[in-house]
Amino acid sequence: MTEQSPALDNLLTESRTFPPSDDFAAQANAKAEMYAEADADREAFWAKQAERLTWDTKWTTVLDWTNAPFAKWFVGGKLNVAYNCVDRHVESGHGDQVAIHWVGEPGDTRDITYAELKTEVSKAANALASLGVTAGDVVAIQLQMVPEAIFAMLACARIGALHNVVFGGFSPTALRARVDDAAAKVVITSDGQFRRGKAAPMKANVDEALEGAETVEKVIVVKRTGDKLEGEMPWTDSRDVWWHELVDGQSEEHTPEAFDSEHPLFILYTSGTTGKPKGILHTSGGYLTQTAYTHHNVFDHKAGEDVYWCTADIGWITGHSYIVYGPLANRVTQVVYEGTPNTPHEGRHWEIVQKYKVSLYYTAPTLIRTFMKWGAEIPEKYDLSSLRVLGSVGEPINPEAWIWYRENIGAGTAPVVDTWWQTETGAIMISPLPGVTSAKPGSAQKALPGISAKVVDDQGAEVGPGGGGYLVLDKPWPSMLRGVWGDEERFRDTYWSRFKDQGFYFAGDGAKYDNDGDVWLLGRVDDVMNVSGHRISTTEVESALVSHPTVAEAAVVGATDPTTGQGIVAFVILRGNAVDGGEEAIQALRNHVAKEIGPIAKPRQIMVVPELPKTRSGKIMRRLLRDVAENRQVGDVTTLADSSVMDLISSGLKSGKSEE
Ligand code: WTA
Repeated sequence: MTEQSPALDNLLTESRTFPPSDDFAAQANAKAEMYAEADADREAFWAKQAERLTWDTKWTTVLDWTNAPFAKWFVGGKLNVAYNCVDRHVESGHGDQVAIHWVGEPGDTRDITYAELKTEVSKAANALASLGVTAGDVVAIQLQMVPEAIFAMLACARIGALHNVVFGGFSPTALRARVDDAAAKVVITSDGQFRRGKAAPMKANVDEALEGAETVEKVIVVKRTGDKLEGEMPWTDSRDVWWHELVDGQSEEHTPEAFDSEHPLFILYTSGTTGKPKGILHTSGGYLTQTAYTHHNVFDHKAGEDVYWCTADIGWITGHSYIVYGPLANRVTQVVYEGTPNTPHEGRHWEIVQKYKVSLYYTAPTLIRTFMKWGAEIPEKYDLSSLRVLGSVGEPINPEAWIWYRENIGAGTAPVVDTWWQTETGAIMISPLPGVTSAKPGSAQKALPGISAKVVDDQGAEVGPGGGGYLVLDKPWPSMLRGVWGDEERFRDTYWSRFKDQGFYFAGDGAKYDNDGDVWLLGRVDDVMNVSGHRISTTEVESALVSHPTVAEAAVVGATDPTTGQGIVAFVILRGNAVDGGEEAIQALRNHVAKEIGPIAKPRQIMVVPELPKTRSGKIMRRLLRDVAENRQVGDVTTLADSSVMDLISSGLKSGKSEE
């Protein structure tokens, strides 16, 4: 917790609303009646959504909440998640439908039908089984956006193994922490990845990470960059095996086994308020029910007609829930793109939309703001008339970016759905319904049918219209996290202790109601930053800085940034013997953080200071540092142990701005 209460400042009054057109509303999957239907009988409502899946054994009880906060959904039910995402579509006669239009960064492409997906996933499942991977084992995956990433995840699901996907941009240190904590038995990676037109090593980093790792028996390597990669790729004969050598020769037949609805599906690590990332655990039946339900209703997805594209990376929850599980359970045809949005040019996304006639597009505000910066004349050059729903996720979307998105990408007509959710919630929780809601730029608006969210004050009492406070989820939901891997206490502490008496899940976000009762998200109220939609804890970056030999102490804040939402600003006190705080030293510190955590955590700015502002109990007052970082008049300093510290900081600043 910070020393602050959530931001309760009044938002700019946003009075524009955008109701759906009559035509859109008439054909929409989700109708207004759904809210009342869910309110009348929540469990019956969720049972109906679960029936969209194929179950091997039907559940006996929809929800068991007797052991709260550990929920059980669809108790007694059995299903195979991969069967639901793949085989059943082939069996229903859609084997020739394209599941994935894959687009490589260098321009190579691959269309994968559901029949081919079934073959690939079956072979990969047999391959994992041949290495001794069985239900309950953990497989770590560090792969860029290649089809094998999806095959591997589904192969794990098929045999009941848990995947633990680690974002490709994470450093060896970060990968190792996630491999060790989850006790991964197998790691899947690639030789290298194409990034901004260049081949960069992956396997070499994985090898560095795995030095001495005790649980890892095998490393499977997808060949992607091949001889385009410069230098030697390290290889350990007894441990490493090429994906193609292991998988290609496997049988194409694999019988999926039905697992319990509560069988673990995956672990995904996310930043918390301490330095150690939390392994968020998700299970099978409830997770698949809600990801499929939300994908169907929020994006208005029509199987066999729409072409969907979610631009997230597989390393984040959005990639799990809205590239792999929800969409494939709904028999999607989707684009998966390997590269960056400006390689080889700034119109790359729109060129892809035009080529594949993408109709549903889901991205993050940071990218929308980047597109704004590049200019409307870029999307203008392409035919984007296929687009009919636009989604946003990851951070609050400012009204200006929302309007730009609707006008310039959605031809002024496509509904924009601003979807609020978290790694922990597993699926979308608060969002407009595109054929129902009169959309308001900048607001996520309403909890979806079947979901309950409230804005409450410090005491847990719901605030009135126009009031601000904390966002809580006051009723269990099917795709909710089932725990923090190996740490029950942390699970209870982080999410369930803040409003223990009421039994609310505390999301860590500040929010307010407007006068219509719509929800506006105001950002995190804890020490978690949101940089380009990525959650990074201030403590993690502080620990990385302090691990450098020249740093004595560090404090990190997230400062408002026009493109990335927040930018990381670090204040460091150098050790007595450290040379100076010159440009080179600062650059070295930035690189050190990138090496420890990953390039996404590189501070935008590092300021060398003689002191840090602390309360009498020794707590760093980040609020004051944020004032400095955002070039504001420094606020109230009366609780500082030494109130002259801020003057010292302001006068003695040496700052190192990033050139990126
Ligand atoms: C923020 C990403 C405002 C929020 C799916 C949340 C948002 C955190 C929105 C979760 C949104 C996500 N409006 N804020 N539409 N979507 N957030 O776990 O602070 O990477 O707590 O999940 O992102 O980030 P995570």
